Amino acid sequence: MTVANRYVLGSLVGRGGVADVYRADDTVLSRQVAVKVLRDVAGSESDRARFVAEARTLANLGHHGLVTVLDAGLGGDHMAQPFLVMELVDGLTLAAQIARGPLDGRRIEEIARQLAEAVAYAHGRDVVHRDVKPGNVLLHPSGAVKLADFGIARLIGDTVRHTRTGHAVGTAAYLAPEQVLGEPLTTAVDVYSLGLVFLEMFTGRLAYPGPPTEAALARLSRQPEIPDDLPTGWRDLVVAMTARHPGERPDAVRVRELLGSRAGGSLRPPTDPTAQSPVATAVLTEAIAPLPPGPPPPGPPPAGPPPSGPPPAAPPGASAAPVADLGTRVVAWLRGLDSTYVALAGVALVFLLLLLATALAG
Ligand SMILES: Nc1ncnc2c1ncn2[C@@H]1O[C@H](COP(=O)(O)OP(=O)(O)O)[C@@H](O)[C@H]1O
Ligand SMILES: [Mg+2]
Repeated sequence: MTVANRYVLGSLVGRGGVADVYRADDTVLSRQVAVKVLRDVAGSESDRARFVAEARTLANLGHHGLVTVLDAGLGGDHMAQPFLVMELVDGLTLAAQIARGPLDGRRIEEIARQLAEAVAYAHGRDVVHRDVKPGNVLLHPSGAVKLADFGIARLIGDTVRHTRTGHAVGTAAYLAPEQVLGEPLTTAVDVYSLGLVFLEMFTGRLAYPGPPTEAALARLSRQPEIPDDLPTGWRDLVVAMTARHPGERPDAVRVRELLGSRAGGSLRPPTDPTAQSPVATAVLTEAIAPLPPGPPPPGPPPAGPPPSGPPPAAPPGASAAPVADLGTRVVAWLRGLDSTYVALAGVALVFLLLLLATALAG
């Protein structure tokens, strides 16, 4: 089947609530893409509206952590159903990855960091995803993590609903309490869902299992159970992200900062000292990552007072120690060089003064 005289549909790569996603060949640009097609030709108006909204929302976002939209058709003369053409993320969903078995701690941290960054980016553009869950997270074999399915995303303050009024949208197991209650939504709903996703990467199971209504209501009466063996930093982070009240949760930027500060990855430690959250930063930076601690800093401790800010993130990997060692030696050498020059300059000055004094006396 060919869509829009251009995309030749191949195998089915995924099925969501209302749409099928196919691997397809873009015959114009000769590349593989993903084409998402609304399943039901007679699709309801709200389903169509969602599709259009998803296409427009994604088209206005551009981030390596979000799937890129390449084209869209809204359904009409040639193709009855609306369709969305996206970059093909040829890998597993996080849901499928979790189902395969436990994830390595380092990988959990990488995925968490990339997701927090993508969500923070969307929030920075006033977009709330509203359906953050492992099935909507695509894992590229390169290690890249992409958040997909902006079908029910909304702009903050947008009053147009794409579903029946009061109907909770999202996936029951990951809904924030305020979503369940039909209260006004903020970006904090995504932080809540993301917290449950983080937890599930460790436990391999849903925090709130069971039929949708039971699962949705359970979070109103109890906090998610967090296993005792979860590293303290992760525990504190998940507890803060899944706080019952949205105002108590850290925002996505803060979550990303907390995740990035220990691992020394592409993310920088917090730059804005006023950006505080109820999360205990010190504890988090201490224990957020289940990674072995970095090597002790080479050389004697500095004589001056300790720096007031958080320590800079140590470079990851085994090569950190030799590099740091070399750095210390170079600095020491430069210092040595400096003092030699200072001494030489001092001797020259004394010599000049003596000459001057002799000349004046003569
Ligand atoms: N860009 C993509 N590349 C590869 N697979 C995708 C892509 N987008 C979606 N999928 C697959 O299709 C499934 C359904 O897509 P999704 O956008 O979540 O649809 P729905 O809105 O119906 O939930 C996903 O869980 C995933 O397996
Ligand atoms: Mg989906």
